[in-house]
Amino acid sequence: MKLSWWQRKGVYQIYPKSFLDTTGSGTGDLRGVLERLDYIKSLGVGAIWLTPVYPSPMVDNGYDIADYTDIDPRFGTLADFDKLIAEAKARDIRIIMDLVFNHTSDRHPWFVESKTSRDNPKADWYIWRDEPTNWRSIFGGSAWHWCKERQQFYLHSFATQQPDLNWENADVRRALFDAANFWLDRGVGGFRIDAIVYIKKPAQFVDGPADSDGTCSVHNMTAALPGILDFLHEFKREVFDGRDIFTVAEANSVTPDELPAWVGEGGVFDELFEFSHVNIMFPFGEVWHRAEPFKLSDFKRALSDSQRATHGLYPIYFENHDKPRAVDTFFPHGTNKILAAKALATILFTLRGTPFIYQGQELGLGNAAFSSIDDYDDISSRGQYDLARADGLSDKQALRFVQKFSRDNARTPMQWNSSPNAGFTSAEPWLPVHEDFATFNAEAEDRDADSVLNFYRRLSAFRNSSDVLLGGEYRELFPEREDVYIFTRTLGNRTLCTAVNFTTHDVPFPAKIFDGARKIFGNYPDESNHFRPTEAIFYEL
Ligand code: NOJ
Repeated sequence: MKLSWWQRKGVYQIYPKSFLDTTGSGTGDLRGVLERLDYIKSLGVGAIWLTPVYPSPMVDNGYDIADYTDIDPRFGTLADFDKLIAEAKARDIRIIMDLVFNHTSDRHPWFVESKTSRDNPKADWYIWRDEPTNWRSIFGGSAWHWCKERQQFYLHSFATQQPDLNWENADVRRALFDAANFWLDRGVGGFRIDAIVYIKKPAQFVDGPADSDGTCSVHNMTAALPGILDFLHEFKREVFDGRDIFTVAEANSVTPDELPAWVGEGGVFDELFEFSHVNIMFPFGEVWHRAEPFKLSDFKRALSDSQRATHGLYPIYFENHDKPRAVDTFFPHGTNKILAAKALATILFTLRGTPFIYQGQELGLGNAAFSSIDDYDDISSRGQYDLARADGLSDKQALRFVQKFSRDNARTPMQWNSSPNAGFTSAEPWLPVHEDFATFNAEAEDRDADSVLNFYRRLSAFRNSSDVLLGGEYRELFPEREDVYIFTRTLGNRTLCTAVNFTTHDVPFPAKIFDGARKIFGNYPDESNHFRPTEAIFYEL
């Protein structure tokens, strides 16, 4: 079986600000990542995706970049970064950088120049208009901001401080491609490419269909517009072609049937993060207080559609820095979280594609609900809170939705041990540590053979050496059932099967298929003739 390096092992995602602080600043840094490379290696991954570490005012925690070719002093230096690449490489791990090319920070010198007048050399590097439209930014509020200096509005799909670049301008594209090549020449193993679906803007800037408040999400007006693939093929030609790298792009709104135009032979990227399985609660756009209840059959359909559409060129993920913790999202209230974490791991490592582990997921971490909106740092949590309040919800109701869906749920400091601040920092951490850190931490879980951490390690190692899991065909069984997720992976005459009970009660085994099957892994230590609450079993049939 001919597989690329990024198909053979998983990826570990690091949110450096919350990983490990080695300077006593309260925020994590690159040396912290360097210190924990052996821990990361123990998870059997072949790459680390680092969320942005470039110089940034940190309005959106680094997704507002002020210089594409340097490291923010909060995180360290270029020399630290080079050392990280080298030390990771010595462990057969590559570093994947996060490219944020839809927008910059409003402090980026390009924007600082662009806003000075309508005729400066960079006047056309951003999206400027005399009249705003009714577009609502993804973080809430108008997507247009009035610039006094230039007497025009500029477009920002995300925060006010994140002006959108004008990809129609060839100089902009050149400058971005140069920045990407700068990191490849330094030895990075590839890119996770942020918010890429928004780079193409419509030919006409007109009002969109209005929601009850008169606004229309910018997402509905600009996501994946015709013509975007021309830009992306140029990007590929100028940056990716001829290099042994891994590219995975964030593409909310590209549907499974469109995936072939985006990934693999004839496509642009190696893989694409599409959102259908993580956004099934938001069929009408991600407004948290309008969330629909989680429906297992929808979740399974989304996963199965992607599996079929991509033939394995697929990042399997249940968590990242933008999503709440999975054990609290995909299972009913009252679920045992350790069982849930192991059940998800079983799916993560046995679906076809590249498994992505988000820091802390391997410890089974859950959501951290803060008691006041003022405790939230995440800019989108504040936007969602305001939106809910404007829709007539009380403070308390609005806060409940933030507690459930906030991005800060996954951004609390990594839990290394049971010492103060979970061993993350010797100072005041930038975001509170989850209160469960005395139980859920890497040191304690390392010692416990039955921990979530050791379950991850075992499954990851198994997956990396199993031809059936690396390349076998995927088939879903009983897709309509709302209680269990069962699928098989087949290569030649071997079939492996994953079965997970998503309920908090016993379920009879769907007859026959398991007769004579051999259990390889499970999240219960013993066997039963019932499928127990949250039970996950991985069989050879
Ligand atoms: C997606 C990133 O994952 C998210 O954290 C960020 O806020 C937006 N893109 C804007 O860059």
